[in-house]
Amino acid sequence: MSKTIAILTGGGDCPGLNAVLRGVVRAAVLQRGWRVVGIEDGFDGLVEGPRTVELDSAAVRGILHRGGTILGTSNRGNPFAFPVREGGETRLVDVSARVVENFRSIGAEALIAVGGDGTLKIARRLNELGVPVVGVPKTIDNDLRKTDVTFGFSTAVDIVTEALDRLHTTAESHDRALVVEVMGRDAGWIALEAGIAGGADVILIPEIPFDLKKVCDAISRRCRRGRHFSIVVVSEGAFPAGGSKVLQLNAKQNFGVERLGGVGHFVAGEISQCLDMESRTVVLGHVQRGGTPSALDRILASRFGVEAVAMIERGDFGRAVALRGRSLVTVEIEEAVAGLKRIDPAGELIKTATELGISFGN
Ligand code: F6P
Repeated sequence: MSKTIAILTGGGDCPGLNAVLRGVVRAAVLQRGWRVVGIEDGFDGLVEGPRTVELDSAAVRGILHRGGTILGTSNRGNPFAFPVREGGETRLVDVSARVVENFRSIGAEALIAVGGDGTLKIARRLNELGVPVVGVPKTIDNDLRKTDVTFGFSTAVDIVTEALDRLHTTAESHDRALVVEVMGRDAGWIALEAGIAGGADVILIPEIPFDLKKVCDAISRRCRRGRHFSIVVVSEGAFPAGGSKVLQLNAKQNFGVERLGGVGHFVAGEISQCLDMESRTVVLGHVQRGGTPSALDRILASRFGVEAVAMIERGDFGRAVALRGRSLVTVEIEEAVAGLKRIDPAGELIKTATELGISFGN
């Protein structure tokens, strides 16, 4: 029987979102004869309007390799705490009833919410309010529980690895310590995996608070071995033992979400102070989220999109698709968003990196 389904992409964008949209449309429109309605700019498109766009097979032509999302996204529009400006002040207002009403006005039987932790939390609450929701986990941070990997992560790791390869040659030519700040929020997956792949000498992650003296010791040991340059990868959420994360904006200043950034400059400054060595910082920032998705991300995103349609067909609501090992599974959204998936400091990946001679500054 023909159905209409809706889809939105929420939170920060990441490579592979368009591959999900294409997968959903191909499975729903071409294979099942359903109609797919795209909601623009994440939940904002349901708070306002509704603002929608028809996703037929022509709409998703040629987008598999494109980064970003053709639907647009927003990481500010939480309908349960929506920022409304009044008299020069911003108040957070619960507009979820309007979102449910607008969703119903579209005539869709289900909503696919593609997003990270924040988007899936909203999706779970909307599901409780009677919107049949299926979740698709995405984030370059790879910090979602209940899925071994999220799409976007592999591309981000590839981008950082390529940057480290390039930075090696200039660091070596100038005998410098290059500190490379990468994204990841409160999980150090990008720093750890790209650091290993890119031959970093020091990796600083939020899961292992660092001691600057130990960081400097590691760099000095390299100098004594005749290696007069070092590459330090620092995750944006890393912080010194007994200290705290470096923020650009706190949650109050940024619609309830901390904006991280600046730890790279802090670490580079300290290295120049404690060692007789020039140090520079490179902040890779949103470069890590942009551009062409890797083959791995395209495949995972396509699988997630196709499975989301199958979940709707089975009436598997309130759940998200996930990857366990090499297989797709479905999990309760509630479990997926209950806490973050962070690196185990006693885990195999940290042990491997340590055996490779990488210092975590601890
Ligand atoms: O969650 C993905 C992410 O890219 C984080 O790694 C980073 O801290 C944050 O989003 C940046 O968000 P924004 O695009 O709002 O600067």
